[in-house]
Order: sequence, then structure tokens, then C-alpha cells
Amino acid sequence: MNQTIDVVMKRRSVRAYEQKEISAEVKAEIRKATLRAPTAGNMMLYSIVEVTDQKIKDRLALTCDNQPFIARAPMVWLFLADYQRWFDYFIASGVEELCKQKQVRMRKPEEGDLFLACCDTLIAAQTAVIAAESFGIGSCYIGDIMEQYEIHKELFGLPRYTFPICLLVFGYPTLEQTHRPYTKRFDEKFILFENRYRRLDQQNFKEMFSEREKQMSKGKNREGIANYGQAMYLRKFNSDFSVEMSRSVRAILEQWLN
Ligand SMILES: Cc1cc2nc3c(=O)[nH]c(=O)nc-3n(C[C@H](O)[C@H](O)[C@H](O)COP(=O)(O)O)c2cc1C
Repeated sequence: MNQTIDVVMKRRSVRAYEQKEISAEVKAEIRKATLRAPTAGNMMLYSIVEVTDQKIKDRLALTCDNQPFIARAPMVWLFLADYQRWFDYFIASGVEELCKQKQVRMRKPEEGDLFLACCDTLIAAQTAVIAAESFGIGSCYIGDIMEQYEIHKELFGLPRYTFPICLLVFGYPTLEQTHRPYTKRFDEKFILFENRYRRLDQQNFKEMFSEREKQMSKGKNREGIANYGQAMYLRKFNSDFSVEMSRSVRAILEQWLN
């Protein structure tokens, strides 16, 4: 092992924090590392909004599917996929006039641009996670920022070609958090393939989920749920928050694309 692998392997999501501020120097180091993340075409198709206003943190704790620890995090960063800056720059650079002159349509940000910007944004976010971890600062992604688009748009003044892809909350972990067992991952044979994609069959699933199935059968209240797949379908995939996330993302796409 080396130090980098050590940092990656020791990371876990942290949802309870010491009441200890992150110093300006450490924050600056994390910012610098984050902005060194690889970025498509060296365009930096993202923006980061640091949330320092406690009232906004309190609001996010509610709008992001009621997760109170968001309000208690010493550092909160909103990661936006952002084509607005580049599109504004194209306009400011006279691209409209250029297109008129060449008698071609001026292209606006479309699906591919959005996905590329999302890639950039998540790569920057994960770079921030690892940089923070190297200072002993824990973090947690909040995917629920993709919900409640109308509220978040208003709250952060989001223009058309931005997309709130994730929120990251950071803080020094409490002692209890550092003693939590690590979450397990699926065996790599179900995730890593060679040359071609491999669809899994019933036998594979049995093996892949056997440990989670065992964990689940230890739980008491199964309420007519037969297995882990059914439980996850109800608890995650078809939950109110997933349905709201899809509605909200459709509203964002509507704005980007129409
Ligand atoms: C895209 C994304 C969204 C997530 N959203 C949330 C969230 O809203 N709330 C939360 O407590 N954890 C969230 N997590 C953290 C995951 O639950 C966590 O990474 C997973 O359970 C594995 O645990 P570990 O990070 O401790 O290894 C999110 C993680 C990712 C990558």
C-alpha cells in the first residue's frame, strides 16, 4: 500500500462532525486540489458554491429529503454542472454574429454538453472528497440536491445552463464515526468485466447478494417483503425521494433543452 491507496481505502461517508472549524489554510488546499481535477477540454464545466449562510444550510437539510446533519456540517459545497459560463462567453465573444455571417445556426448547450459537464463536476467533487480525506476531514455526498429544483434554483439563483448535480458536506468525524464498520462492496467479478459487458443471471444474483440477504434476514420487521431486491425496490428505487428526483431532473432537462 502507499499513502494514496491508504487515503482511498480509509474513506467512508461521514454524517456526524466534531464542532471544529476547518481552517482557511486547509480549505485553500482542498480548493486547489479540487480545481486540479481532470476536465473535458480543460474547460472546467462546473461551478462550486460554498454555503456559509446557516439559514441556507438549515433549508437544505429540509429540501434534501430531511437530512439534519447537512445543517451541522462545518463545510458545505454545492457542485453545479455549468455550461452557462461558456455559453455566456461564446455570446460575449461575438459567436452569434459569426454564425450569422457564416449563415449557420448557433448551437446551444444540448444533451451531450450536459453529460460532459456532469462528468467534469463529479470528477471535481470526488477530488475534493479525497483531498479532504487526506487532511482527516470526512465528507458525505447528498444526491438529493437534484430534487426540489424550483426551490434550489431560487435559493442559489441558478441560470438555465446549470445543473445541481451533488452537494458535499464536510467535517472532522466524531470518534463514533471513525469506529463505524466499513460498508461492504460487491465482489469485483460482478462489477469488472473484460472486453465485453456481461449480464448477470439468477445464479449470479444469488451469489452477489448473499451477504446482504443474510444481513437482512437478521432484521425483524420484514412486512411481507421476500428478499433484498424487493426491499431495495421499495426503500430506494420506488421511494418518494426517487420519484421526486426524477420529476425535478425532468424540470431541469426541460429548461436546458427546450
Ligand atoms: C451520488 C451519491 C449520492 C449520495 N447521497 C447521499 C445522501 O443523500 N445522504 C446520505 O446520507 N448519503 C448519501 N450518499 C452516500 C452513500 O450512501 C455512501 O457512499 C454508501 O452508502 C457507501 O458508504 P461509504 O461511502 O461509507 O463507503 C451518496 C453517495 C453518492 C455517491
